[in-house]
Amino acid sequence: MAQPKYRTHVGMVDILPGEVEKWQAVERIIHEEAKKFNFEEIRTPILEQTELIARGIGQLTDIVSKEMFAFERGDDQYVLRPECTAPVVRAFVGHHLEQRGGTQNLYYIGPMFRAEKPQKGRQRQFHQFGAEILGSDDPIADVECMAFMISVYDRVGISNMSLKINSVGDPESREAYKQALIDYFTPHKDELSEVSQNRLEKNPLRILDSKEEEDQPFIEDAPVIGDFLNEESSQHYAKVKQYLNELGISYEEDPHLVRGLDYYTRTAFELISPDLGAQDALAGGGRYDLLVEEVGGQPTPAVGFAAGIERLLLACKEMDIELSEPKSVDLYIVTIGDKARSWAIQQLPEFRKKGFSATMDYAGRSIKSQMKDADRENARYTIIVGENELNEGKFTFRDMEASEENQLPLDEIYGRLKKKL
Ligand code: HAM
Repeated sequence: MAQPKYRTHVGMVDILPGEVEKWQAVERIIHEEAKKFNFEEIRTPILEQTELIARGIGQLTDIVSKEMFAFERGDDQYVLRPECTAPVVRAFVGHHLEQRGGTQNLYYIGPMFRAEKPQKGRQRQFHQFGAEILGSDDPIADVECMAFMISVYDRVGISNMSLKINSVGDPESREAYKQALIDYFTPHKDELSEVSQNRLEKNPLRILDSKEEEDQPFIEDAPVIGDFLNEESSQHYAKVKQYLNELGISYEEDPHLVRGLDYYTRTAFELISPDLGAQDALAGGGRYDLLVEEVGGQPTPAVGFAAGIERLLLACKEMDIELSEPKSVDLYIVTIGDKARSWAIQQLPEFRKKGFSATMDYAGRSIKSQMKDADRENARYTIIVGENELNEGKFTFRDMEASEENQLPLDEIYGRLKKKL
């Protein structure tokens, strides 16, 4: 076969029929669970102002420093959104959503873009579903976010996963912790990986996130943030754990869990799957009490998460979870001759109005090919129509599964369809 002239960009994939049905099944579950948890959907543009993303996520993060798809047009700086928390916060501030009263419980589903090196579970265009609760610093909000996140995996049937939690404290305790990390890692600087050596100066917390082998022994013995938390952050974290316990949500505390985005304060969490290989985070999130103010709003505490849909689907594959039925159509009208074709095109809308899915041959093929096509389309029933059938007002109604045929008038065909489908 000749090589196609055009391809998708690296790390970006077409989601084809056969696969799309799995996405629809997952999206339906997300919408249903969101409703149960009283979250409202929000849809924001895919292009955002570069400055919002850079400020929101942090200049020194990998996402902003290396992975943005950004471009200029006239005086405007655009970026393909790498995540949706900063955009949701922008919308919250810009539309004064707080004036609706209460907390704003928002969720989203959509594509995100990061120019990362593609590998299993890591793409340049990927999809997230996520949720944000704006306007509450109550640990109940943290736990509701985690519970919503987990409910989607439960509904899908993914059981093999673990929830890791930590508290990254407030900026004051984090400064003290940063200094402690610098003091701890500096004597070992030459033994650290190159990436970590760079991080030591810029963002020592991120060393804890390193996957490099040579860094691991040093990370293991590194100071933990728990020892630097102030009273308020400690109490908040204790409450989060208490509510998780009360809800029976199991978790592991990971004192070295730091997230790759700079906006986090206090609670941080990740949902990990052992089935995913190197990119094992199904989802991640946490509290970001300072972000709303950072992008120009009134101080508003907030918490949220986002989850990778590709990774959820990968986990389903590993666990042999079937998310969708194979494709099928209720009725296929097989036609012989022009009159029958024009009868069929008029009947299709009638069947569809009554709630059945229905199709016919679009290519003027022989009966044999049409029957083959009906089989390939997984048609549950066929109606075979020719001039004789039209004159007599009775049609061949075939049950494809049972291989049974009857000559029936149209109203009886409707009756049988209603009973059987
Ligand atoms: P994040 O940890 O950067 O957090 O991304 C969340 C999830 O998106 C990851 O756990 C992973 O499943 C998926 N993901 C991220 N990058 C890729 C990629 N290149 N390919 C495939 N999947 C990927 C956030 O985005 C935050 N906005 C989460 C949040 C919401 N925090 C508070 N609210």
